[in-house]
Order: sequence, then structure tokens, then C-alpha cells
Amino acid sequence: MASVEFQNVSKSFGAFNAVPDMSFSIADGEFVCLLGPSGCGKTTSLRMIAGLETPTAGKVLIGGRDVTYLHPKDRQISMVFQDYALYPHMNLADNIAYPLKVRGEAEAKRHARAKEVADVLKIGDLLKRLPSQISGGQQQRTSLARALVYPSQVYLFDEPLSNLDAKLRLEARGFLNHLQRDMGMTAVYVTHDQAEAMALATRIAVMDKGHIVQFAPPIEIYRRPATTFVANFVGNPPMNLVVVDAMVDGGQLRLRADGLTLAGLPVSDAIAKAAAAGRLTLGVRPEHLRIAREGDENVIAGELFANENMGPESLVTMERADATRVTARIFTDDEIKVGKTVKLSFEAAHITLFDSAGARIPVSGE
Ligand SMILES: Nc1ncnc2c1ncn2[C@@H]1O[C@H](COP(=O)(O)OP(=O)(O)OP(=O)(O)O)[C@@H](O)[C@H]1O
Ligand SMILES: [Mg+2]
Repeated sequence: MASVEFQNVSKSFGAFNAVPDMSFSIADGEFVCLLGPSGCGKTTSLRMIAGLETPTAGKVLIGGRDVTYLHPKDRQISMVFQDYALYPHMNLADNIAYPLKVRGEAEAKRHARAKEVADVLKIGDLLKRLPSQISGGQQQRTSLARALVYPSQVYLFDEPLSNLDAKLRLEARGFLNHLQRDMGMTAVYVTHDQAEAMALATRIAVMDKGHIVQFAPPIEIYRRPATTFVANFVGNPPMNLVVVDAMVDGGQLRLRADGLTLAGLPVSDAIAKAAAAGRLTLGVRPEHLRIAREGDENVIAGELFANENMGPESLVTMERADATRVTARIFTDDEIKVGKTVKLSFEAAHITLFDSAGARIPVSGE
């Protein structure tokens, strides 16, 4: 296994700059997810690690070695593609053993190794079949087996689970998580599914328009999103963002929304500076909202928009006067009986504040 590093890497396709200037460093044994919306440059970045795309400028290092201009086959990487890229005319045994064949391994030995990996992935009794004779989930595992059959420095995955149905996807995700714990592999895993990134990654790189907006462990991304973009991308449903009037009064921050004054918060220098603009964005996760009770201090209000029963919880969505929507995850039965008007409350300790440019305001002591 090895580390992976980008030093001021950029990639242009003609006049279009898909990755303007990217630097990061992934330690040996880390499982990093590149997470971001369609077209943000995830596949392009991954292909530059693999050597399938050459950077316009900058350096790519694997295990401390400059591989920027090295051929893919000399990089000791394995890649799992979104469409599996299995050879249709070869049976599973030959597909899985292919990386060993390329490296000149004898047939008996490579088939024994293919069987070993296939057994772990529970496709060991399908080895005689062609890719067209197995299910999508089995094809996905075949592709994974082929990536794992030969020890690599770095494993690269490009949305490997996106063609699976919801149940298989969860199963495969759990399997990958298990594999990572078992092998401690260095992996770079592209996805636009935030739940997949949260479940698998030791660190997540959230990308937007070719830039990494935040690069941190999942829990950090969840609890302390660097920007409103990250806040709105991570979490299901994502963090609620409400633009509020803000002023500092007697050493306290006062926020106003929906004609209601929210409880005062202690003011730090950063908060005072941001509040001077008169408006802030208040972020609250759905699980930190509840149906307001008598005496609750921090209340926002609107009209009921949707009330979705999810089994263990309900998602109650209200539409506020400015047409923005706020969703609460409600876990108790008695609170689900909401009327036409909805009031939701939260505790001040659970909020995240963003300045007018969308950057998170650090809380006191950070
Ligand atoms: N060979 C190419 N020629 C021209 N433009 C390209 C090429 N490859 C990618 N792009 C553009 O670069 C940008 C980034 O593409 P990329 O495939 O890296 O996105 P992505 O984040 O993987 O998206 P998705 O989630 O849809 O797979 C896109 O705007 C895409 O249209
Ligand atoms: Mg892609």
C-alpha cells in the first residue's frame, strides 16, 4: 500500500478547465471518498491518479514517487469502473485472473488465486460462466475480485455500486467497509452518494466545480461543514439552511426569523464581524428539530408541506413565508400529529452559523 499526493494538479480539456488547481495528500491505508455533484471533476481526478489522464500541470505522487508521466500499468494500481468493464468473451475465472495473466503468472496458479478471491466474494461457483450469464450484483463483485486478485499500492473505485439496486448496494457497501478494515487498503473512491461516502471513508473530499471545498473525516464534515454547499450536500435530508436577520445586542447575538426572535447566543469576534452584515444563514440538522412545545425558546414556523412516515421516524417538512422549506426528523409518535401550521424548535447548542458568503463561522474556542 502507498500514499497518494497531488501537487497543484490541473486538467484542462481544450478551453475548459475541469480541475483548476488541486493539492491533497492521502496517507498509506486511508480510504478517501471524492464526493460531489455530477461534472465536478471526480472521475477526471481519479483518472489522473490511474494514469488514464495526464495533468495539464502539476505532479502526481504515489508512494512518494513522481508518477505524473508513468504508464498506468507501471503504477501498481487497481481500478474498478462504474460499468465494471468485464471482458464479455471471457468466463469469470479468466476475467478475474486477467491481471495475473498480464504479469505472466502460470495458468494453474492464477486460477487458484482467482478462485480464492472469488470465494471470499461469494462468486466462487460461477467461475465458468460468462459476464452475460450473471446478475448485475455478481458482475460488480467480479469486477471487484479482478481488482483485488493482485496486490496493488492503491485501489481506485469510480462509483462501483451505482448500477446496483438499493438492497445489493447496501450489502456491497458493508462488504467494502469490511474489506477496508481487513486489508487496510489505500483507496480513492468516487461517489456522488453522500451516504456511501459517510459509511466508507476515513476522510471525505467534498468537491465543487473542480475544487476541494472540504477534506476531513466524515463526522467532521457532518458536524462542522465548512460551507453551505457542504452542509447542503451531506446528510439525508441535508442540513436546513435558513437566512435570518442578525444583530448584536448587549453582548448577545439576536437572530430573527418568521417574526420570532430566537434566543441570544454568546458573541465571539467572528460572530460579531459576520453579524455586522445584518444577515446570517442558520443551519440546523433535521434530527435537531422537534415540534415546538410551550416555552421553547428557538422557534421557526411555517405551513405543513409534507409529512412522510419512514417507519422509525417521520420527516415533517414545513414551508416558511419566504417559500423556503425546513425538514424535521421526528422520532416520537405523539409529535407526528401536526396541524396546518407547524412550529419547530431547536437548541442553540445544535446550530451552525454561516456568513453572507456561505462560510461557516467558527464557534468560540475553535
Ligand atoms: N475528455 C473530455 N473532454 C472534454 N471535457 C471533459 C472530458 N472529460 C471530462 N470533461 C468535463 O470535465 C468535467 C468533469 O468531468 P468528470 O467526468 O470528472 O465529472 P464527475 O465529477 O466524474 O461527474 P459524474 O458524477 O457525472 O461522473 C465535466 O464538465 C466534463 O464534461
Ligand atoms: Mg464520474
